[in-house]
Amino acid sequence: MRRERQLDLLRRAKESGERFKGLQAPASRTNAATAYTDHARFDLEMQKLFRERAVFFGLSSDLAEPGSYRAMRVDGLPLVVVRQPDGSLAAHINACRHRGSPLVEPSGTGSGLRVLTCPYHAWTYDLDGSLKARPATAGAFDDVAIDCDLLRRPVGEKYGLIFVRPEGEERVDVDEVLCGAQDDLASFGFDSYVHIETRTDEWAMNWKLFFDTFAETYHIRTLHKDSIAPLFNSDCLISEGFGPHVLSLGLRSDIHEELSKPEDEWSMLRQGTIQYFLSPNGMIVHQVDHLEVWVVEPLAVNRSRLSVSVYAPNAPETQKAHHYFVKNLDLVAEVTGTEDFALMEQIQESLDAGALPELVYGRIEPPLIYFHDQIDHALGLSS
Ligand code: FES
Ligand SMILES: [Fe+2]
Repeated sequence: MRRERQLDLLRRAKESGERFKGLQAPASRTNAATAYTDHARFDLEMQKLFRERAVFFGLSSDLAEPGSYRAMRVDGLPLVVVRQPDGSLAAHINACRHRGSPLVEPSGTGSGLRVLTCPYHAWTYDLDGSLKARPATAGAFDDVAIDCDLLRRPVGEKYGLIFVRPEGEERVDVDEVLCGAQDDLASFGFDSYVHIETRTDEWAMNWKLFFDTFAETYHIRTLHKDSIAPLFNSDCLISEGFGPHVLSLGLRSDIHEELSKPEDEWSMLRQGTIQYFLSPNGMIVHQVDHLEVWVVEPLAVNRSRLSVSVYAPNAPETQKAHHYFVKNLDLVAEVTGTEDFALMEQIQESLDAGALPELVYGRIEPPLIYFHDQIDHALGLSS
């Protein structure tokens, strides 16, 4: 993040008064509980947000070498992105043109592919998706009239970030997708980050509860009183919207000490948890000296798969250095799993049972308000 930008954001906090009141949203809002439980609403979200929009597909450094790939289901649709011999990316529907078998594990990553070979009857495709061979068939498919190359999807890559459009032919322009957030995101140099480890779990909660969990710091003081509360400030956070995306900056507990120093000693990178929600399915978190990258895959209206990966700024040189980043992942998985998402599952169960007509998002939770306003807008539900 550019120095001037860091100072600007911290100045905003400094000038915001008691408990950062000046950072609060202009108005609270409510949201119908059915936003988290209604099947028709969920189907509309999948179509408008997850199929027609370009979705986040990971960091470029995940697919560093030709032949490396990442597969993911988006609204059930199997997609795979493969690094080509010339360094570009190709995205395919991860379904063999013979009888639909996935070509690679539908949520897998890997490297070293020279071709894509179907595990069912061994049809073989070049990395660009063109059908190369149907071995040992004695010409049995020669009369097939359709083109049997893999179906391609638009993919875009810039600033070390990858996006894929699951449906529709419109090309992916990453600058357009990021809606201005690229000015910040470019400065992090995501290209050079090194993947350490990924953990994946399924939770009985609507996909939006994933974002809700991270969209305010107000809960830290109470829900996390026995874990991370001593480290973080629970008052209002700094936030800013970029189209459908939201930047939120959680401040550390010693923020007031930092802000009492001369400006030239301030550092947002040291002082804050910098979160970019890349709507609809990704979140990049800069934590002092490493990155966490989250991806949410909605499985049903009340079920989601979440993966979190940790990245180091450079390849760790020692086992001890590697272990440090794994410990950070342990902490994040422990706190979110046992405190945040465990509670989200209980909330989902109550909402599914019709416990409440609506939920309240307060002015102390600005990213929550912005995020849901944007979703309503995209779905055509704004009043
Ligand atoms: S389904 Fe792929 S070769 Fe038969
Ligand atoms: Fe939390």
